[in-house]
Amino acid sequence: MKFFVDSADVDAIRELNELGMVDGVTTNPSLILKSGRDILEVTREICEMIEGPVSAEVVATEAEAMVAEGRRLAAIAPNIAVKVPLTWDGLKACRVLTGEGHMVNVTLCFSPNQALLAAKAGATFISPFIGRLDDINLDGMDLIADIREIYDNYDFRTEILAASIRSVNHMTEAARIGADIATAPPSVIRKMVEHPLTDKGLAAFLSDWEKTGQKIA
Ligand code: E4P
Repeated sequence: MKFFVDSADVDAIRELNELGMVDGVTTNPSLILKSGRDILEVTREICEMIEGPVSAEVVATEAEAMVAEGRRLAAIAPNIAVKVPLTWDGLKACRVLTGEGHMVNVTLCFSPNQALLAAKAGATFISPFIGRLDDINLDGMDLIADIREIYDNYDFRTEILAASIRSVNHMTEAARIGADIATAPPSVIRKMVEHPLTDKGLAAFLSDWEKTGQKIA
């Protein structure tokens, strides 16, 4: 499973990238707001640092205007994936932009039928939102599993980008189901290393080592 970082925080992305953990980045208008940065400037900076796809989202709601914004975003760097919402206009914009050779990430997906439409429109990535479905007492993982099954039935090449990930369990489940990519906040990716038995085992090894009086010179 590829790891995308769901953030517009350049320092946090850099730290994970230096560990080889970053296959791509996703941003959205809320993450741009959180960064306090200019969208074009921060997106350019991320694209220079990361080789893989960097999603930047349009904010127009009408297809023609989405296409115009998408072209502007795509001009930032060759690794931009234009993010469009899963609306009828978004699907139209997806068709045009992928036809021009741009990568397109269709976002705000909450149903298998929406994912089916995005694949038909030629989306490069589909972003089903796990956490936001969990928030309303539905199981976001069921959606990932349904899309996996449907895409495999018909060999759709659209990649499943599990999004709105809130916990380390979401990462495990997305990987078990076979999501192509998971995009997670840096805090969740860092938390994946944690296990109490690792901490306990390390403490015991270090304590025993001290008793040997040895040094690795
Ligand atoms: C990424 O592409 C999505 O915009 C993001 O994962 C949404 O996450 P949230 O539901 O935690 O805001």
